[in-house]
Amino acid sequence: MLALDRGAPIRRGPSPYKCIGGNLLGKEEIALVKEVIGSQTLFRHYGPKPPHMVDDLEQEFCRFIGTRYALATSTGSGAYFCAAAALEIREGDEVIMPAYGWITDYNAVAFTGATPVFADIDESLNISPEAFERKITPRTKAVIVIHYQGGASRLDKIVEIARKRGVKVVEDVAQSCGGSFGGRKLGTWGDIACFSLQAHKMITTGDGGFLTTDSQEVYEKAVRFHDLGLLRERFVRNLESPVKTGPLCGMQWRMSELGGAVGLAQLRKLPRMVETVHANFLRVRDELGKRFPKIRFRRVRTEDDIGITLAIDVESEPNVKYFQKAWEAEGLAYGSTSYCQTMGDIEVVRALLQDAGRYDPADFDVTREIEQRFAMVAMLPVHARRDVEEISRGMIKVLGAMEKKKMIWTGGEQE
Ligand SMILES: Cc1ncc(COP(=O)(O)O)c(C=O)c1O
Repeated sequence: MLALDRGAPIRRGPSPYKCIGGNLLGKEEIALVKEVIGSQTLFRHYGPKPPHMVDDLEQEFCRFIGTRYALATSTGSGAYFCAAAALEIREGDEVIMPAYGWITDYNAVAFTGATPVFADIDESLNISPEAFERKITPRTKAVIVIHYQGGASRLDKIVEIARKRGVKVVEDVAQSCGGSFGGRKLGTWGDIACFSLQAHKMITTGDGGFLTTDSQEVYEKAVRFHDLGLLRERFVRNLESPVKTGPLCGMQWRMSELGGAVGLAQLRKLPRMVETVHANFLRVRDELGKRFPKIRFRRVRTEDDIGITLAIDVESEPNVKYFQKAWEAEGLAYGSTSYCQTMGDIEVVRALLQDAGRYDPADFDVTREIEQRFAMVAMLPVHARRDVEEISRGMIKVLGAMEKKKMIWTGGEQE
């Protein structure tokens, strides 16, 4: 019997906090942070001892992702603003992004004076390639592709459409660092990729971010924008050919050596984290697939999903609410590791759209309808065998009860 109906709950005691790399902060991070403090050199560019943490982190990140250049930033959002500057997005341009996303993607575009344009998501909870194509106009400069919660977008289709139509591709890998599509790392498919190292992301420095690219010109402009318009010698050393760009008006989004130290230790743990989560995700998915032949997960190819969130279509918003109540009554933690929302429903975005006279809630109907019927449960690298088993048992219990009450899957066979 469900705990909601006075049965015994599956779990007693707290669940692990919904951080991914954050839950694994430990002696490796402490050792590198200690080294930084001991050197009294917290600034990445100079100090009493030669700084090297952020440089090392950038080099390891490049090798890990597989791009020619990687730039560390003090926040993830900073990286998106650098990307917009590096692509010279400006007033008169349009930038397409999924209608299910995060404020940063909207802000980084709106701040330049360009127009953010929303394309619906599909059952993958990522941008629909067809919806993206329909939104392209002669003014479209770029598309931002958000890989939501570890699950890759259809990069093959999106990049093909974008290349054909002369549109730049920015990958938003904030929630999916370490993931891949078709065996190739996320962040290597587009013209630029941005990552977040905020507390709820795959790896974390508290706040922090990355920008990756293969283009020297894009890299130079991003470096300049993140560091007051300057291109210091340490970045010039990374270039393949002589400097191509001049000074520009920039911001200040440098990562500190403390961030570099934590990031370096976290990055070294990432491959293992991805492996662990993916294996656990497969176990639960397989079990649920066998128990519920009609179950529908978000539609991302399983091999292209890290698996940090099990997203299950329970067919309506009231059903999601019921699932959450029943799940939490079982003593289990509900929800994804970090958020996206239907963009028109994010307060800041709605206010900005209203100011620009462009807010129509109906523009978001398709995306909202999809978003609102998915129940989400996080899977974390710290989950032990017992935690994973509890998630499986919890799912079987709650979804089984919902099925019995004829709340879900009452129609014919699903595709
Ligand atoms: C999809 C997405 N894009 C961008 C960001 C921005 O990253 P940050 O919080 O590091 O500024 C986030 C972080 O929550 C995110 O989830």
